[in-house]
Amino acid sequence: MPLQIIRNDITRMRCDAIVNAANNTLLGGGGVDGAIHRAAGSGLLEECRALGGCETGEAKITGAYKLPCRYVIHTVGPVWHGGGFGEEKLLSSCYRNSLELAKQYDCETVCFPLISAGVYGYPKDEALRVAVNEISRFLLENEMTVSIVVYDKQSFQISKKLIADIREYIDERYIQEHYVPRGNLIYSQCKAPGDLRDVVGSVDESFSEMLLRKIDEKGMTDAQCYKKANIDRKLFSKIRGNPQYKPSKPTAIAFAVALELPPEEAADLLLKAGYALSPSSKFDMIIEYFIRSRRYDILEINEALFEFDQPLLGA
Ligand code: APR
Repeated sequence: MPLQIIRNDITRMRCDAIVNAANNTLLGGGGVDGAIHRAAGSGLLEECRALGGCETGEAKITGAYKLPCRYVIHTVGPVWHGGGFGEEKLLSSCYRNSLELAKQYDCETVCFPLISAGVYGYPKDEALRVAVNEISRFLLENEMTVSIVVYDKQSFQISKKLIADIREYIDERYIQEHYVPRGNLIYSQCKAPGDLRDVVGSVDESFSEMLLRKIDEKGMTDAQCYKKANIDRKLFSKIRGNPQYKPSKPTAIAFAVALELPPEEAADLLLKAGYALSPSSKFDMIIEYFIRSRRYDILEINEALFEFDQPLLGA
């Protein structure tokens, strides 16, 4: 997955480079800066001393010493002053400059914390959106696997109303599962008898064939679709090259979301891969909530999945 959102301590990530949310002196501090320096050992501080500091929005690279990665890229995020002082532009340049530096050093895997979202006070949900937007823009032009390493649940701020709506939906659907007449559930495909041709016709179409047909119908390019689904090019090539390919359930769901399929078509696509959304799965019910609400923003879905301690799409 080109862009993953995972929950971990960044100092434990085995990758080519981790990014440090530093301050202008580059001489360490609290938060993730402190954690990285503690884990790396004194050699990191010695090398940082020689760098002579770093401007806000800029990035500099050092070795990683005792950390399980090759490099540490130090960048300095903006302090949040309400949003009217160019904070978003500076934060975007932190991600862009760090990624360009990683590319310069042939890094294939890079991990970011949520820069400025701690001591510097950047609203966490906005900090996450700036990160995702800037990293996604870079990944449209470059092959790299980037992880946003979220350390604590507070990093995802999801609206209380959305949480209540989803909780109510899960409770409702679970009850509904035992009492509702057939045909009201996303995963029970009740076709009118007259649709027999459709049913027989669609039975012949594989997951891969339906996916490619839908991409064409939506006027999307392959790249637009798999990048929006947060699926890497290699996996997409396998699916495209093998009409009988069976993807994992999260992959099938990610494509249904990327194609912004209505519930019935999403259920069809999942069915082609041998899956159905089940009311006994909280993960499935959250996915179903978003598809039924026609809300196809994978980041918003991940924020909800994270809130309910579920695995994330594309992670
Ligand atoms: N792994 C991953 N993320 C972490 C970790 C960790 N071990 N520790 C903290 N974080 C997260 C925080 O939860 C927050 O979401 O990193 C994000 C950035 O928070 P800060 O570390 O406070 O960084 P920032 O807000 O950019 O402030 C930078 O803080 O530590 C000082 O020297 C630093 O002065 C600089 C300022």
